[in-house]
Amino acid sequence: MHVILLSGAKHFKEAIKELEFFEIETKYFPDNELYLRIPFNPLKKEILIQSMPLEPDKKLIELIFASKTLKDLGSDELIALIPYLAYTRQDRRFKEGEAISQLIVLEMMRDAGIKKILTIDAHFHSGIPRVEGLEIHNLKLAPYFKEFFKEFEENEDFLAIGPDDDAYELAILLAKELKIEAGYIEKKRISDKEVEVKKVSAEVENKNIILIDDIISTGGTIIEAYKLLKKEGAKDVYVAASHGLFLQDSLNKIFSIGIKEVITSNSIPSKASKLNVIPLMFNELNKLKWI
Ligand code: R5P
Repeated sequence: MHVILLSGAKHFKEAIKELEFFEIETKYFPDNELYLRIPFNPLKKEILIQSMPLEPDKKLIELIFASKTLKDLGSDELIALIPYLAYTRQDRRFKEGEAISQLIVLEMMRDAGIKKILTIDAHFHSGIPRVEGLEIHNLKLAPYFKEFFKEFEENEDFLAIGPDDDAYELAILLAKELKIEAGYIEKKRISDKEVEVKKVSAEVENKNIILIDDIISTGGTIIEAYKLLKKEGAKDVYVAASHGLFLQDSLNKIFSIGIKEVITSNSIPSKASKLNVIPLMFNELNKLKWI
């Protein structure tokens, strides 16, 4: 099997020394259409790696072209590692007539020949989507952030807090590893860019906090959560998140308000991306017996 890096995964080139990565040929024509060629003889089983932040449509089309071409050339067991899987938020029709993008995208991948997807903390808030003929596994990173907070282990001055009730599960997972308490914040989303935070489920006065979430997008959630925690008397606040999109210069904003440290995975490369997902994903592939 080849391990093939697509454009959203090029930054993983050095991610595991023991692995040889393969690349495909791509270019864009003057009218922005994609040209793609597989420059080696495909094997029956192939692994494709693609992360899909910021330009999800481009990354999706590239993955679809590559998968379909591999399938046409004889690969019949395609596994896609998609550390950041885009289009997962729209998992139902909130308003009549809306496209259920999560399902459409997964079905496109399945129809292009992908049999299995391993992703990370995808926004599957209504559970793992069921798509016939496609196996999906969602790896949770929360326990792996332990290595960055080891000195806080069993320290009752520290709490892991999810900035909304969905992130409570992540806070519990990290707290269990560190043997500390967990809690969450009641949050209401007002718009794509605005959130309202209400109250914290735990007593945070004089405590240091590790805020843990799946995604930092505009940073609104983390910034509002930080303000509430400080208002309630919290001491230092650290942030861990699986995916750091950091739109609208939000990483700088997060640091400028006084957050001590921000750690994300390298599903999306940035100044904060310190947790290497590739060894974890290959370890998971072995556990799942997919390779
Ligand atoms: C929401 O359900 C997610 O878990 C994140 O809290 C959210 O996507 C973060 O977005 P933003 O950084 O724009 O507040």
